Amino acid sequence: MYTVPKLTDYSAKAIDAAVRELLSALEQEGSAVGSESDYKAFRDRWMARKNGVLTQINDLWLKPAPKDAKKDVGQRVNELKSKVEQTIDAAEKRLTSTAVKSKLSADHIDITLPGICRPIGAEHPVIKTMNEIVSVFRNLGYSVSDGPEVENDYYNFEALNFPPNHPARDTQDTLFISGQDREAQRDRLLLRTHTSPVQIRTMERLKPPLRIVIPGKVHRNDPPDASHSPMFHQIEGLAVDTNITFGDLKGTLDHAMKALFGSSVKTHFRPSFFPFTEPSAEMMVSCFICGGSGKRGSEPCRPCKTTGWIEILGCGMVDPNVFEFVKHNGYDPKKVSGFAFGMGADRVAILKYGVDDIQYFFQGDVRFLKQFG
Ligand code: DAH
Repeated sequence: MYTVPKLTDYSAKAIDAAVRELLSALEQEGSAVGSESDYKAFRDRWMARKNGVLTQINDLWLKPAPKDAKKDVGQRVNELKSKVEQTIDAAEKRLTSTAVKSKLSADHIDITLPGICRPIGAEHPVIKTMNEIVSVFRNLGYSVSDGPEVENDYYNFEALNFPPNHPARDTQDTLFISGQDREAQRDRLLLRTHTSPVQIRTMERLKPPLRIVIPGKVHRNDPPDASHSPMFHQIEGLAVDTNITFGDLKGTLDHAMKALFGSSVKTHFRPSFFPFTEPSAEMMVSCFICGGSGKRGSEPCRPCKTTGWIEILGCGMVDPNVFEFVKHNGYDPKKVSGFAFGMGADRVAILKYGVDDIQYFFQGDVRFLKQFG
């Protein structure tokens, strides 16, 4: 390490040489500063009042200089002093700037990297199916209506022409809310067994003419299996106007089935019974899986049980007795007529997507659900 020599020769040449030696030591030591502690040691070695290099050149060069060289040496010592200060400053700056740089590079974010991709959910296949069915009817000018899932006996049964104790009530295994024995029968609460009560609620609210579809959740006391669930979904439809005929019902539903399952499907109606429609029918569509042949290659077609037809909904002309309950709002059975229908949305989704167990829809298994994204 550099030590300050004593000066015996004060000739310009000798002073130059001593200064050059000192400067090169300064340069070298300054550029070797790589840390905070290096920097402190460097600064103290050159600047310390007691025995720093600057103090030493003062003591060893300037003080003993002969009179005629004093001025010159004094000037050189001053120049060296400012050079030392500059070098120390520069070392400090270099240190802080590399510290900032390394902090910056440690914190640095690459904004060009793709972001964290959070999976967005997929529309549930049953909801998707309901939306599709609703949109077919929207295109025909139908509005969407809804009503409560906890319903009372009046709307779920009585106003739909299921009189108290009528055996047709037994076809809908109803889940009643407990502890209502003291209530009048029509006020007793239950989980609605179908979306049909919303027909009555809507007719109470809106005057004819009316064209509505009602998608929603319904409940029945059915033990779960591959084709039953105590909770499932229906889409109800209702059209009321003057002169609505069974022909309108057939034309509308035939169009809707073609829009849903493809233009080559056929529809077929057969007599049935519902208390709130007269006449009533069940509508079949030709099986869109096997094309109506009942076979898939040499295998029997399971969805239509080899019949070539799939039962898809119940429908009929609104029973005049139903209109009696909403006559006060313009539904005089002598003036208006209407048709209604109701279909199971889960069943349509099962057929559309080839799902073999309705339970998959309600188990919340992401591996199943994400296939519909
Ligand atoms: N509500 C009936 C059920 O759940 C389905 C139904 C049949 C609805 C005929 C209708 C209809 O509107 O006209 O079994």
